[in-house]
Amino acid sequence: MATEPLLDFDWDPMDTGTGIPFDVYARLRREQPISKTREGAWFIACQADLIAATKEVDVFRASMREPGVVVPPEEMLISEIPEPRHGQVRKIVNSAVAAHRLGRVEDFTRDLAHQLFDRAIAKSEGGDFVELVKEVVMPVPTSVIAVLLGAPVEDYALWGSWSDEVVQGDYPRFNRNERGEGLAGAHPEFTAYVDAMIAARRADPDPPMDFTTRLLQTEIDGVRLSDVELRTVLIFLLLSGNETTRHLLSNLLHRLATTDGLLETLRDRPELIPNAVEESLRLDSVIINLVRTVVRDSVFRGHAMQEGERVFFGVASANRDESIYEAPEEFRLDRPKPKGHAAFGGGPHVCPGASLARLEGRIVLEVAVERLSALSLEPGFTWEKVPVFWANGPSRLPARLVAR
Ligand code: HEM
Repeated sequence: MATEPLLDFDWDPMDTGTGIPFDVYARLRREQPISKTREGAWFIACQADLIAATKEVDVFRASMREPGVVVPPEEMLISEIPEPRHGQVRKIVNSAVAAHRLGRVEDFTRDLAHQLFDRAIAKSEGGDFVELVKEVVMPVPTSVIAVLLGAPVEDYALWGSWSDEVVQGDYPRFNRNERGEGLAGAHPEFTAYVDAMIAARRADPDPPMDFTTRLLQTEIDGVRLSDVELRTVLIFLLLSGNETTRHLLSNLLHRLATTDGLLETLRDRPELIPNAVEESLRLDSVIINLVRTVVRDSVFRGHAMQEGERVFFGVASANRDESIYEAPEEFRLDRPKPKGHAAFGGGPHVCPGASLARLEGRIVLEVAVERLSALSLEPGFTWEKVPVFWANGPSRLPARLVAR
């Protein structure tokens, strides 16, 4: 068995604030695909190793929590719940975002995208720059997930700001913040809102048959979810449906604005739009790293890992693995297996919202291509990443839009 030579250079996988270290990833893939930082965290850099690791759920447990932070089972996010309960909760979540339910949201998403572009084009034609992230992108995932879950669509801005607060705050790591403990203590407005949605359905003799109602009535092993579990599932769905898809949409519009000829190519050959979505997911990987904790001493691909050690699954690195992708740094619409990337993870925790995210990406791109003859960013624009270590998307995209 290999004993671990520590890397001869210092780097911190969580330090993505000044940019994603693609040069470090490339070196690791070449020299040490499974490595250990000087701080003692493992980093998995290649795609095959990463996908294999996502399947080892009894060795690698998802957790963003700091060591020693204990979360009551009812408040565990779905990605942290151990098997077999995870599989049971997962069935419920899968049914919420199942492909057959997505037909309903397709027309809604298209209408919304047209309205947002209507407004953005008018503003741009009036001479102002349009901040695409805020004015076009953000309303899409929050509204779409609200429609699926049965929350009032007009509250999308509330969801958006609450989910930002959670993701950018201390709660995911410490299970608390300066306001209090647990979700209810740390984010009281968000939890009160979701609790009210649950209470309204419980009080209604004929509740609307949306996801929230179904969730209330579903049994796992003959037992229904408690109100706290219901709240946790709903909040996590709102967060995961929002914070990730937002960056996919922003990254797509950024590519459209900065890649010569892309708008014209997609207009002439709209059948390539799904490939553009996949290539964005791969190259501009929305999730940079997934964080795991080793829950029992084990050997992974020849490397001895100790209980309690932290492991980073390098999704953004795996998506540029040169053993899989020719010219991995290039944005190409003709990759042989466009969906073969690791952007949605793998194993039992693979993203259940992948079809929904792809649908939103495809529709926003279709509408952009249909409505615009040109899209350009403010002169001197510099890319600034959102301040979340695991996420990759621009904080802002000030743009000029020209209608067709
Ligand atoms: C571009 C958009 C998205 C990306 C890149 C993405 C990526 C991922 C990844 C990599 C995972 C695996 C996490 C892990 O193994 O720890 C995941 C899990 C998850 N995603 Fe997504 N996701 C996206 C959109 C969505 C949407 C729209 C939803 C909701 C409808 C969603 C709901 C979830 C949930 C609930 C999980 C946890 C699954 C589990 O632990 O079993 N995601 N996502």
